[in-house]
Amino acid sequence: MTRRSIGIIVNGVTGRMGYRQHLVRSLLALREQGGLALDDGTRIWPEPILVGRDETRLRAVAERHGLTDWTTDLTAALARDDAEIYFDAQVTQQREKAIRQAIDAGKHIYTEKPLAESSAGAWELVRAADAAGIRTGVVQDKLFLPGLRKLKRLIDGGFFGRILSVRGEFGYWVFEGDWQPAQRPSWNYRAEDGGGIVMDMFPHWQYVLEELFAPVRAVTCVAATHVPQRVDEAGRPYPATADDAAYGIFELDGGIIAALNSSWTTRVHRDELVEFHVDGTEGSAVAGLRRCRVQHRAVTPKPVWNPDLPATEDFRAQWTEVPDNEEFDNGFKVQWEAFLRHVVTGSPFTWDFLAGARGVQLAELGLRSAREGRRVEVPELSR
Ligand SMILES: NC(=O)c1ccc[n+]([C@@H]2O[C@H](COP(=O)([O-])OP(=O)(O)OC[C@H]3O[C@@H](n4cnc5c(N)ncnc54)[C@H](O)[C@@H]3O)[C@@H](O)[C@H]2O)c1
Repeated sequence: MTRRSIGIIVNGVTGRMGYRQHLVRSLLALREQGGLALDDGTRIWPEPILVGRDETRLRAVAERHGLTDWTTDLTAALARDDAEIYFDAQVTQQREKAIRQAIDAGKHIYTEKPLAESSAGAWELVRAADAAGIRTGVVQDKLFLPGLRKLKRLIDGGFFGRILSVRGEFGYWVFEGDWQPAQRPSWNYRAEDGGGIVMDMFPHWQYVLEELFAPVRAVTCVAATHVPQRVDEAGRPYPATADDAAYGIFELDGGIIAALNSSWTTRVHRDELVEFHVDGTEGSAVAGLRRCRVQHRAVTPKPVWNPDLPATEDFRAQWTEVPDNEEFDNGFKVQWEAFLRHVVTGSPFTWDFLAGARGVQLAELGLRSAREGRRVEVPELSR
């Protein structure tokens, strides 16, 4: 067995995503399984180079996992020949600058979403990466959720007939931080620090809608800051200047209408933190993170509107669970595996910087729609 080591700079490794999903659940999980096997028997072996701002926290992460390669000097890490990939899970606002530096250093680049803070910035990165001839990738983890994989299977199998509409609910209550600590970092609630739910969630909705259903051609969005004051990690009150809820209508090719609510200011009365309800002429489905339930045309009951009587039917019980029929691995890890194969063998990888730029574009146009109070068309973004 040949082992192919690959140095990966992991920047932002002390953050929620960088640590849990990317370092522990993806790169270290790959090492635990003996590396990533290629068809010729070679095993790709990730060698993380941890990068961050705080020496104490970096050392703590490294020691917890028996790692020794860490530094607070990004420039020095980028100068190393054995570092082939730069990965970015920093706060969004720091991303563009760091990616630019990594492009100049000739590294292949994988990054959390959103790729940049603006379409113009994202497009610049697409161009610079193309010119440098490097391989790029942007995290699109929701595509690999078991619930959405099962939904995709239904679509590919023709279950829905003609798809009419998608209704999505994403969200939960994020504590304000006063009498209970907030469960998300405070920068998310400050526009000046790159926060806001539109910039956070619309990049996800863009690839989910396009890959499962059809490209988005127009967006209408109302964004709100329902909770105007929050308390940060240090217990200091701050004005919440970013949108914490977004009510979006997306018009897709083929006449499909998607209405997706995203909110950090709603209390959950659902089975999962995100759910998509898809209606088609032949059947409907409700897909969440893990589950997917269906109701076919042939078994659709006929409710009759009568507000004078209590509901007699158990509507939820009228749906059938879609079986897994396969094992679903962690979505972040699955995408890492595809990206590592892409870098080492040149195998196809569709979720590149251009795909990431489409997500930023939809978020930017969503914000414009909200600001100007109107429907905004989404121009095709291609090279
Ligand atoms: N794919 C997903 O589902 C998903 C979910 C949440 C967040 N994200 C994305 O991941 C990125 C990180 O989000 P997170 O929730 O892990 O955030 P976080 O605040 O937990 O972590 C941010 C990281 O950036 C570092 N950092 C670098 N410069 C900084 C600065 N000037 N100020 C503050 N921190 C700085 C921090 O040290 C930390 O390691 C964001 O771009 C976010 O959009 C993606």
